[in-house]
Amino acid sequence: MADQAQLSASLLAADFGRMRSDLQRAEAAGVHRFHFDFMDGHYVPNLALTPQHIKALRPFSRLPFDVHLELANPEQVLEFFAWEGVSTLIFQADTISDNSQLFKKARSLGLRVGLSVNPDESIAPLKGLFSEIDHFLVLGVQPGFGGQSMHPGTPDRMREVRELAGNGNLEISVDGGVNLQNAGDLIAAGADVLVAGTAIFGAENITETIKAFSDALNKA
Ligand code: DX5
Ligand code: ZN
Repeated sequence: MADQAQLSASLLAADFGRMRSDLQRAEAAGVHRFHFDFMDGHYVPNLALTPQHIKALRPFSRLPFDVHLELANPEQVLEFFAWEGVSTLIFQADTISDNSQLFKKARSLGLRVGLSVNPDESIAPLKGLFSEIDHFLVLGVQPGFGGQSMHPGTPDRMREVRELAGNGNLEISVDGGVNLQNAGDLIAAGADVLVAGTAIFGAENITETIKAFSDALNKA
């Protein structure tokens, strides 16, 4: 468990016409990392970001970029990450079959490996994979769209992951429906990273909102 929780800004909720300035504003205000959702219109009924977005934005940020693959064929898109610029590659647990091969390949590309679980999926059966991954993401909403309300059972699921992970180094994040109202509960439940999209980029004042998140992180 990290000493202090971090805030990751999910660019799915940015204004796509001024992504670079949204990213720079968020970084200047104090977010710790950025989150990019890749969607294929198949695993989820929506289309989202691409490697081109990462390449275009990478020169304008010094923070880690995490990629969340909400798509059906992660092994087929791994080659897109054969260049520097991405920190953690997060796979939906129900989209991978040959874990060892996939993780090995991702690591050979210099990537940290993460797994993500949907709100309606059990976490306990994944415990056996915890020693093979760096990061575990608990989705607070069904994947596919930003701006949804978090399932109320999410803090309990965070606690479950924290307990299953024991004292290991597994980093735990929560994504989907994170806002200033539930941030404290999620950190108390064991979140190392809060991923927030709409709560940040949909806010009237991005800078003030990030500062309010930072206060919540500091208080926890
Ligand atoms: C949902 C995505 C999230 C999304 C969260 O499929 O994985 O990263 O951007 O958005 P908000 O914070 O708006 O719920
Ligand atoms: Zn995501």
